[in-house]
Amino acid sequence: MPAPRPATKAEFHKMPPQIADGKAKTWITRGGNFAVAVSEVEQGAVLTRPSDPEEHMIIIPPEGPTLNIEAGGKSIEAKADSLTIVPPGASKITAVSKGLFARVFSKASQDVIALASNAATYADGAPELAPPDLWPAPHDGYRLRHYPLAQYAKPNGDRIQPRVFRSTNMLVNLFVHYQTRRDTRELSPHWHDDFEQASLTLNGRWIHHMRYNWGPDLSTWRPDDHGEMTTPSIIIIPATAVHTSRDVGEGESSLYDIFCPPRLDFARKKGFVINEDEYPLPDVPVDDKVKTGGSLLAWQKPG
Ligand SMILES: [Fe+2]
Repeated sequence: MPAPRPATKAEFHKMPPQIADGKAKTWITRGGNFAVAVSEVEQGAVLTRPSDPEEHMIIIPPEGPTLNIEAGGKSIEAKADSLTIVPPGASKITAVSKGLFARVFSKASQDVIALASNAATYADGAPELAPPDLWPAPHDGYRLRHYPLAQYAKPNGDRIQPRVFRSTNMLVNLFVHYQTRRDTRELSPHWHDDFEQASLTLNGRWIHHMRYNWGPDLSTWRPDDHGEMTTPSIIIIPATAVHTSRDVGEGESSLYDIFCPPRLDFARKKGFVINEDEYPLPDVPVDDKVKTGGSLLAWQKPG
């Protein structure tokens, strides 16, 4: 039995970018079925994609840049604190102002996947994961979809405010940023049977507590990991690894979770996915097996 797949931890300012030109630096980290590209751009930077086979997402944090995004014959000006879903095909981003933002691509964008800093970790193709399946096309067809995020934050609401969006090929949970620290008596260590989770953190300092399954061969066991990470950074959490994240230190912190393909348990919770009316659910049996176990908060449980 091989050693469990290790988590990938990437602290972007401690490593060279995978793509760099005069106006943009891009760090690419992959999971089994997706890649996250985080870019720092100057005003006037241009990032083009010749032909992505599937949709991808553009996440601009509250302190991020304004981006002009062109795709599908349309153009939008995406401001800070927004999410944009880009249709398949060619697309172009022009930075109207400087800052940091993230894009999430599925495995179908093989040129992005190939550039990932952790490509070697996935050289075996990640056979432990459920294969990605493209969900049905949106009701009104593929097009640019843009969601300013501030309207989904309740200023005096719960500390943990999930904000979930999905496309045909991925699901993101863009938690409202945190001003206070997580109560260490209310953590949620849990695991996912056959899919991975990327946690992208752009503000604050984070500990992603991680415990790996034991197999019969002691020599393949991995120790628990309680290492602290600076931001901006990302962790790719392997399937079956028990995990829970908490922020430490002072000031604002942020965490965005990424799942590719989309999580059916979240998508089926009526009213949980903000843009659920735009995309049909796949036609699969409701009684499929549980894929997430452990200590779960109410919002993490199936509906
Ligand atoms: Fe998780």
